[in-house]
Amino acid sequence: MTADPTHFVEFDLPGAGRPGIVGRAWTRVPAPLSAAERAEAASRIGTLLARENAVLVAHYYVDADIQELAEATGGCVGDSLEMARFGRDHPAGTLVVAGVRFMGDTAKILSPGKRVLMPDLAASCSLDLGCPAPDFAAWCDAHPDRTVVVYANTSAAVKARADWVVTSSIALDLIADLHARGEKILWAPDRHLGHYVQQQTGADMLLWQGACLVHDEFKGAELALMRAQYPDARVLAHPESPSPVLAQADVIGSTTQLIEAARTLDMRRLIVATDQGILHKMRQRAPGKHFLAAPTAGDSATCKSCALCPWMAMNGLAGVAHVLEHGINEIELDPALARRAKAPIDRMLDFAQARKRPVRASGDLARDGALFQRVGPA
Ligand code: 13P
Ligand code: SF4
Repeated sequence: MTADPTHFVEFDLPGAGRPGIVGRAWTRVPAPLSAAERAEAASRIGTLLARENAVLVAHYYVDADIQELAEATGGCVGDSLEMARFGRDHPAGTLVVAGVRFMGDTAKILSPGKRVLMPDLAASCSLDLGCPAPDFAAWCDAHPDRTVVVYANTSAAVKARADWVVTSSIALDLIADLHARGEKILWAPDRHLGHYVQQQTGADMLLWQGACLVHDEFKGAELALMRAQYPDARVLAHPESPSPVLAQADVIGSTTQLIEAARTLDMRRLIVATDQGILHKMRQRAPGKHFLAAPTAGDSATCKSCALCPWMAMNGLAGVAHVLEHGINEIELDPALARRAKAPIDRMLDFAQARKRPVRASGDLARDGALFQRVGPA
């Protein structure tokens, strides 16, 4: 394959309680394929998946053709929690994870006996990059009395140091439960999700100051102007968004929860504060509704504020075909580290199971009240 152009991005590289240090990382986006090339790659991937006893596990933010192919070939498109469960429970010997690195690592941690391939192993995440394991370990050492809860968007080494892993779909429930048991929390790395959960539950939480570079760009003031322009619209926001945005949201939830809300809400116009890759599935599930991207930095917008994750964009059909064809880009983790990282992930999956957390909402927002956090417009 020819080398893809490299782009550089900046992200928050905080220490504990210390925002504002800028880190730099790179990403490479595959060249777009023609319609004929896409069709050829999709058909080749179908053949290779069967040949390799493999299944495709994709996130909603990746290329729409990969999502379609995952569903057409018996794989899965889901949020991080669903991807983790699906990969663990599927009998295929090879999982091809189309998403970012922490999703591939989680699949490998949960299924050490399976081969886990990714189109590009360098597909990172600003939350993961913004929480280096040695700094995080020092922070944990300084607070031995606190229960350590980390977001799934972290390295295996950070997870290995945690008591609990959570995804956006289960964070609120779990922290409410720990708070009710009188536990004090050390939370990393997303400051916005942490602040939101802290506000909602009243839990005693110390927050790492990381952020998602995509969601961090959504702006509350511009969103208020957009809502004034479209008073009939409702706002769907991922909880990685800043608090001025979440304060105006009608529904706050994981990617799957937002897609279900798009389908079930009566309003025809929806403002969406998350990666725009999600619109492919929202349009499928809610045909006839009109979606508006929540505003970012307006006139000063840079490629960072395009509401498209630069690392999710590293997943292309050609990459999926290439790794299956050649058996390359396999996730390898130190087995002892992976075993330590597995315990807090298993705890989360058991907690979700015990709560009988629905993977998909019922379609009835009133009945799904506990699933969606509804905050009245500010
Ligand atoms: P979900 O678990 O809600 O899909 O979130 C993953 C993610 O990385 C959002 O930016
Ligand atoms: Fe990470 Fe943000 Fe990309 Fe999600 S959208 S993978 S949180 S950088």
